[in-house]
Amino acid sequence: MMSPWAFSSLFLSFFLIFLPSKAKPFDHHFQPNCTSNPPVVSVSVFPYDVELLQFALNLEHMECDWFLYGALGHGLDAIAPELAMGGPPPIGAMKAKLDHLTQRIIAEFGYQEVGHLRAIKSTVGGLPRPLIDLSVHNFAKIMDDAFGYHLNPPFNPYINSLNYLLASYIIPYMGLVGYVGANPNIDGFVSKRLLAGLLAVEAGQDAIIRALLYERAKELVPPYNITVAQFTIHISNLRNELAKCGIKDEGLIVPTELGAEQRTCSNIISANADSLAYRRNPAEILRVVYGTGNEHQPGGFLPKGGNGKIARELLQGA
Ligand SMILES: *[C@@H]1O[C@H](CO)[C@@H](O)[C@H](O)[C@H]1NC(C)=O
Ligand SMILES: *[C@@H]1O[C@H](CO)[C@@H](O)[C@H](O)[C@H]1NC(C)=O
Repeated sequence: MMSPWAFSSLFLSFFLIFLPSKAKPFDHHFQPNCTSNPPVVSVSVFPYDVELLQFALNLEHMECDWFLYGALGHGLDAIAPELAMGGPPPIGAMKAKLDHLTQRIIAEFGYQEVGHLRAIKSTVGGLPRPLIDLSVHNFAKIMDDAFGYHLNPPFNPYINSLNYLLASYIIPYMGLVGYVGANPNIDGFVSKRLLAGLLAVEAGQDAIIRALLYERAKELVPPYNITVAQFTIHISNLRNELAKCGIKDEGLIVPTELGAEQRTCSNIISANADSLAYRRNPAEILRVVYGTGNEHQPGGFLPKGGNGKIARELLQGA
């Protein structure tokens, strides 16, 4: 056995070894380098970057009012009204009945979306918030469409944490795949920096929502005889059908062929055969978000269509 003296001298020598190296950052002569390489492309924002980043505002606005209302009972108009730029308030948004943990997480997500709106609008200019339908009716219809029959009682996203998280499964994922899709088409170094920052946080939000649901994957969602996993599988299948571009969306449990390295059926993160995130273009995203499978025909979350050049031109092409 080690004597107390031997032990304390060992302890002391630990400090003597580590203290000098720990102290280094405070050394006057040590100059940490915090500068990145200068960008290879010296243009900060190309004109064509603007349209794609402005397109993303449609989704960021949806997420912002969805999370803020769900957690706090009020939305962007109460937090940063100038960012709505005169756009109408959302339809049917309300405070959800959330447990403490979920409420904290969702409030943080909501505030994050305010930052995203500010970052995009201050970089590429803004457009007004579109009309957004966050009503019980809209979510109930999405779930009915996902299952192909009328859920009885109709699905209500606001009545408890589980339903709210299932409804949230629908939301940041579209932003995530949209940013991955936009990446090859934007080139300015400021635009790219913005996009990477947005993508990382959207992916984080999506992963947290999915992880919380995965913990309960096998539970039934009351009062339905349907598990959490089945809900996610049906929502993902619906989005694949509406977008009409193959499998780019996967539920929490998949056939092993679709799992990571075809070795697992757990699927906390939806990704392709190389475990890279799927990507979607603006038309695919609108087909899903409109719920119509048609980028020329608005509906669903955006009853009057998206704002900005990309969405407006697609509407005129109806
Ligand atoms: C700091 O690091 C960057 C990127 O590696 C480099 O371009 C730059 O020259 C460095 N600055 C100094 C003072 O060493
Ligand atoms: C619930 O679903 C399971 C599996 O799909 C089925 O076996 C069972 O009969 C259903 N129960 C009710 C009450 O519908």
